[in-house]
Amino acid sequence: MTVRIASRMDRMAPSGIRKVNEKALAMERNGETVLHFEIGRPDFDTPEYIKKAAIESLNAGHVFYTSNFGTMELRQAVAGKLKRENGLDYEAEEIVITAGLSEAVFAVLATILDEGEELLVPDPVWMNYINVPNLLNAVPVPYELREEKEYQPDLEEIRSKITSRTRAIVIVTPNNPTGSILRRETLQGLAEIVIENDLYVISDEVYERLIYDGEKHTSIGSLPGMKERTFTLNGMSKAYSMTGWRVGYVAAPADFVPAINKFHQHNSTCAVSFCQDASVAALNEEGDEVKEMVREYTRRRDCAVEAINRIPGLSCLKPKGAFYIFINGKALGMRSADLADYLLDHAKIALVPGDVFGPGGEGYLRMSFANSYENIVEGCRRMKEAVEELRKK
Ligand SMILES: Cc1ncc(COP(=O)(O)O)c(C=O)c1O
Repeated sequence: MTVRIASRMDRMAPSGIRKVNEKALAMERNGETVLHFEIGRPDFDTPEYIKKAAIESLNAGHVFYTSNFGTMELRQAVAGKLKRENGLDYEAEEIVITAGLSEAVFAVLATILDEGEELLVPDPVWMNYINVPNLLNAVPVPYELREEKEYQPDLEEIRSKITSRTRAIVIVTPNNPTGSILRRETLQGLAEIVIENDLYVISDEVYERLIYDGEKHTSIGSLPGMKERTFTLNGMSKAYSMTGWRVGYVAAPADFVPAINKFHQHNSTCAVSFCQDASVAALNEEGDEVKEMVREYTRRRDCAVEAINRIPGLSCLKPKGAFYIFINGKALGMRSADLADYLLDHAKIALVPGDVFGPGGEGYLRMSFANSYENIVEGCRRMKEAVEELRKK
């Protein structure tokens, strides 16, 4: 039988992160000890009070489909959170609960982009913002995030890239892979451009709670005139260490909600029933759990940043959010993919080549510090030794 795969699948790139991970796992199967800094997931267990709520939900028999929109309790809890923490005034009816933020990306882009229409996306960026528009036959148009500008976009560049086909701008703050956050004045400048050009913003705020040194997160939808132009995407994965529970959400301009929900109906029907109940507890009954995780992330980040900046040939900015360090290895004169391979082979440390996130990431490596303090100390020691070896060659 001839295997024929639809050509649209060629428009999606396989995950570069998983490629590194698969190689690291194969090395482990051969008895090697690899330190994992490639995967973008918190390493903490989900807080106990959330697990307890899930168990109670299961015991209460909440094992069936919920409303496609999500349970009203969770939509209300999300609306409450957005009001309390983000200054966003959404009704529960303007919120759709999705199977992770990833599904929300698909649902929103399928709802707003016709074939051939353009979406401005950061470069570098989490790759779903390239792969999904490509699959939809729309056009992701990159705008640069540069280290020299602390990864703030150049507003003039954005203006210059807007055409009659541009529909929306994607922002990811805090950012994956750079760990930067968009300053309030940058967001105000972006908001002006969006309003002037009658565009939408897709604002990915999944790392919003993981923010350091007293920095403040601003939701662009809270700026004047922006609510009706903003799709605010968020979820439980990163803040509450719930990546496997698959609960995300989109708060959208009301007119778009039925179409987003239609996509979601046909894609996943609903987010998992008892995970939705647990998410209500996560949002409404939080104590110090997230704060404690942030304290530990800060300790790990500081340790890694200091160690990396002491390695001749490598340097990095101190990330203000998320749990990624974007390491500049350009001085070593290698392509990021080769450098990541070298470090995996020789130092047994798994890092993601920066170009996986777009051409702007070439010359960089992404290190996740969602790993134990001890592993970070050991990983940086191995990195130093291997880079010193490399420089002798
Ligand atoms: C920027 C960004 N958005 C969304 C996600 C996925 O979130 P979820 O687990 O809710 O699908 C990730 C995961 O790495 C991410 O980095």
